[in-house]
Amino acid sequence: MEASASAKIILLGEHAVVYGKPAIAIPVSGLRATVSVEENQIPGQGLQVIVADLNQQFGVSGLENSASQNPLEKTVEYILKFLQASPPNVTVTIRSDIPIASGLGSGAAVSTALARAIILALNQPLDRTCLNEIIYEVEKIHHGTPSGIDNTVVVYECPVYFIRNHPIQMISIAEPFTFIIADTGKSALTRVAVGDVRELYNSNPSGIQWILDKIEELVLKARQAIESGELAELGALMTANHSLLQELTVSSPELDKLVQAALDGGALGAKLSGGGRGGNMIALVTPDTTASVREKLLEAGATRVFETTVN
Ligand code: PMV
Repeated sequence: MEASASAKIILLGEHAVVYGKPAIAIPVSGLRATVSVEENQIPGQGLQVIVADLNQQFGVSGLENSASQNPLEKTVEYILKFLQASPPNVTVTIRSDIPIASGLGSGAAVSTALARAIILALNQPLDRTCLNEIIYEVEKIHHGTPSGIDNTVVVYECPVYFIRNHPIQMISIAEPFTFIIADTGKSALTRVAVGDVRELYNSNPSGIQWILDKIEELVLKARQAIESGELAELGALMTANHSLLQELTVSSPELDKLVQAALDGGALGAKLSGGGRGGNMIALVTPDTTASVREKLLEAGATRVFETTVN
């Protein structure tokens, strides 16, 4: 048996979403965290969790409250508690293609895949709303005060228009569109960038509020552009969002260089995606520009480029 969950990227609205503004995010279904489930040979061994990529392993034998703040141990604890179930006698092995700490929702994806594997092993279904709430609790360990956008798009695995503490809205896609995701090769902690924006906000609320309001306008227009298939408009809105993220101090020289390279290569728009300061950027491309954008990004130092189509 196997369970999995996809990566995600934020198209527009990161950071502002923490302050109650809308954001748009999409799943990246080709990049996944996968968890295999195997019955233990010896009865009563409890649940064994192997994190293959990190060479780590832990076991869970009861419904205890662990003192650990390890997000994976917490995922197991929350799921078992919610289902009022004892640990199944299985070994689950986690593997992930998703780079860590780079704006692709790796934490949410790994926790979601692990939770799904346990649900499978227990054969106790859990609806997506409950799963989403549980993964949100785990996200708090990773990120401090997350908006909830990462867990939502990962758990539902569809394009979402997200406002904190509001029911999720699915976005309909008029015309499929393709992104190139490029990695700066520098990992950065979302928690730190979010904390720095909070400090900026506290020191100059009206100055920062103005930027957040501008981002909101872009997100509203982007939703319309996606729903009516106006891709050139969507690209321009993304690039404008990048400038506002620069003003929020969450870009970096590497991100700015990749954004410029993508635009030079003919992308319809480009911006950093996620917490920023490092991690990934995204570029909206057309079939005519995919190859040139990819080449420019690699020339400019991208350590990995990945293409994804939303439809
Ligand atoms: O860095 P990521 O992909 O986890 O994105 C975080 C998005 C932020 O808006 C910066 C924070 C949040 O909790 O929404």
